[in-house]
Amino acid sequence: MPTLLHIDSSVLSVSESASRSVAETFLKVWREQHPGGTVVHRDLSVSPASHISAAAQHAGYVDPAEHTPEQAAAFAERKELIEELERADAVLIGAPMYNLSVPSSLKAWIDNVVLIGRTAMGAATLKGKHITVITSRGGAYGPGTPRDGYDYVQNFLEGVFGMMLGMEIEFIVPELTGAPVDPAMAALLPLYEASRARAHEEAKAKAMGLAAQLADAA
Ligand SMILES: Cc1cc2nc3c(=O)[nH]c(=O)nc-3n(C[C@H](O)[C@H](O)[C@H](O)COP(=O)(O)O)c2cc1C
Repeated sequence: MPTLLHIDSSVLSVSESASRSVAETFLKVWREQHPGGTVVHRDLSVSPASHISAAAQHAGYVDPAEHTPEQAAAFAERKELIEELERADAVLIGAPMYNLSVPSSLKAWIDNVVLIGRTAMGAATLKGKHITVITSRGGAYGPGTPRDGYDYVQNFLEGVFGMMLGMEIEFIVPELTGAPVDPAMAALLPLYEASRARAHEEAKAKAMGLAAQLADAA
C-alpha cells in the first residue's frame, strides 16, 4: 500500500491554519482511498530540520566510508530526511506564504533534501514523484491583482521540486485568508470564501486523482 509523506510548515494550529485545514481534507480522501496505506507526518513548525551546516554540505559529496566523525554526525539527519522523501509514493506539503516566500523551516528542510548527485540535477531519485503543495496566503497574487508578480512561493517551489528534483508538482492556493481578520479586507470576504471552498474541492479532487494514478502505476 502506498505511503504519503505529509509535511506541514504553518506555525498555526489546524483550527486557524488554511494550509493545515485543506491538508486535512486531502488526507481524509487519501485515507478513504488507501485504508491500508501509510501517512508519515513531519511537522516542521514543531520539529524543524537543522539549517544546513558546512559539515553536512561537504558530507554530501564525500563517500560515507570516508566521512569524518563530524561529517557523519551532520549527514545523519540529512540522510534521514532524504530517505523519508525517497520512500514516499507521493508528497503533500503545506507551504504558507511568509513575507512573499516559504516559511524558513520549509526552506531549511529543502536545503537538506536537495543533494546534487542523488536527488537533484540528473541523478534524480525523486523523478516523477507526485507532490501537492497547499500554499495559503493572506492576500492575493494572481493575474490582475496589485500584487501580481510578487508571489515567490510558487515560482521557487516549481523550480526546486520541478526543475531541480524532476517531481510532478501541483498547487492548491487558498488566498485572501486575511479577510476574516482584517477589517480593511472586509470587501474581499466573498472572494476569500470562494477561494476556501475551491481549495477544499481541489484537495478532494487531487487526492482522488492521485489515488487513481497510484493504482494505475501499481
Ligand atoms: C510571518 C508571516 C508572514 C506573512 N507574510 C505574508 C505575505 O507576505 N503575503 C501574504 O499575502 N500573507 C502573508 N502572511 C499571511 C499568511 O500567508 C496567511 O495567514 C496564511 O493563511 C498562512 O497560512 P496558514 O493559514 O496555513 O497558516 C504572513 C503570515 C506570517 C505569520
